[in-house]
Amino acid sequence: MQKTYLCIQIITDAKMEQQDIIISRDLSQSLEQALDGLAYDRLFVLTDETTHEKCWPLIAGLTAMKKATQIVIGATDEHKDLDTLADVWRALGQGGGTRHSLLVNLGGGMVTDLGGFAASTFKRGIAYINIPTTLLAMVDAAVGGKTGINFDGLKNEVGVFSPAASVVIDTEFLKTLDSKNLRSGYAEMLKHGLISTTGRWAELIGFDLDNVDFRKLQDMVAQSVAVKEDIVARDPHEQSIRKALNLGHTAGHAIESLALQEGRTVLHGYAVAWGLVCELYLSTLREGFPKDKLRQTTNFIKEHYGTFVFDCKEYETLYQFMTHDKKNTAGHVNFTLLGNVGDIRLNRTADKEEIFNMLDFYRETMGC
Ligand code: GLY
Repeated sequence: MQKTYLCIQIITDAKMEQQDIIISRDLSQSLEQALDGLAYDRLFVLTDETTHEKCWPLIAGLTAMKKATQIVIGATDEHKDLDTLADVWRALGQGGGTRHSLLVNLGGGMVTDLGGFAASTFKRGIAYINIPTTLLAMVDAAVGGKTGINFDGLKNEVGVFSPAASVVIDTEFLKTLDSKNLRSGYAEMLKHGLISTTGRWAELIGFDLDNVDFRKLQDMVAQSVAVKEDIVARDPHEQSIRKALNLGHTAGHAIESLALQEGRTVLHGYAVAWGLVCELYLSTLREGFPKDKLRQTTNFIKEHYGTFVFDCKEYETLYQFMTHDKKNTAGHVNFTLLGNVGDIRLNRTADKEEIFNMLDFYRETMGC
């Protein structure tokens, strides 16, 4: 049984916490390993309706799971709200949960974010394990300790930083993931490549997303997670270097919000990919990011993600979404940019004219 085991220590202000990342080829064995390291009185498993049907059977046979209380929630992002959170707290309480209980979150980012928040607040905090089932959750949402829910129409508005005891990553789940969700998660991997090394970036834009080599993808997922965890370990509460993980997200969130407002919703990773096109252009303009790498990355994104079409009448709306991004301070639009692959430039701002030029570049390059 081949297995990679990464042990990463996250040092927080108040205490030292350890988040084990287990990259596994045998889910049951890896989960047993994660459970072995923890003392708990009662075990709860949180799934959504989809992962309950498709993923729960993969671990249901484990001895530990036979005594688990199951909590099943709705499957889409609209359920990532206060009502569902209250349902989970209630289920934990009614199931006899104590401060020494353990919650296993089995699902995509919605389940790991909400479940992580429920665990971190129930009885002032119980331990939890994440088993991400989508690529987006494996390389981003389920690792790094950000938990939360949407509130008052704002995404991830309420939550806490609270790392899982373990994250068990099994890329077998990816074999049944649809190609759009695979590409969505892959955009975050591309971001991790851009903030790490030229070798990783080149490997990512050379990967055949139409005929996925899952063995190779597993290694690339492990590398991607290691990039994120290295950054999180250095800055768990996003005071400095963790902002590198926001590359592509200022423009990306604006595109995602515009898409939502216009009733043509896009997957998060697609918006991040289009946001990368915008922000790499800004990186070239402001920080000297190499033009050939801008062109190669943009071509890759155009080929695999297509284009989100908008016209210049929508620039003002996109700009307004950018000014309302929660990463901003004092009215400036804040970006993470790059001087080159791996050369991270934090806390860069751009004015309205530069942002409109950036949107011009996106439209010209992406053909809209
Ligand atoms: N998703 C970016 C972060 O975890 O900081």
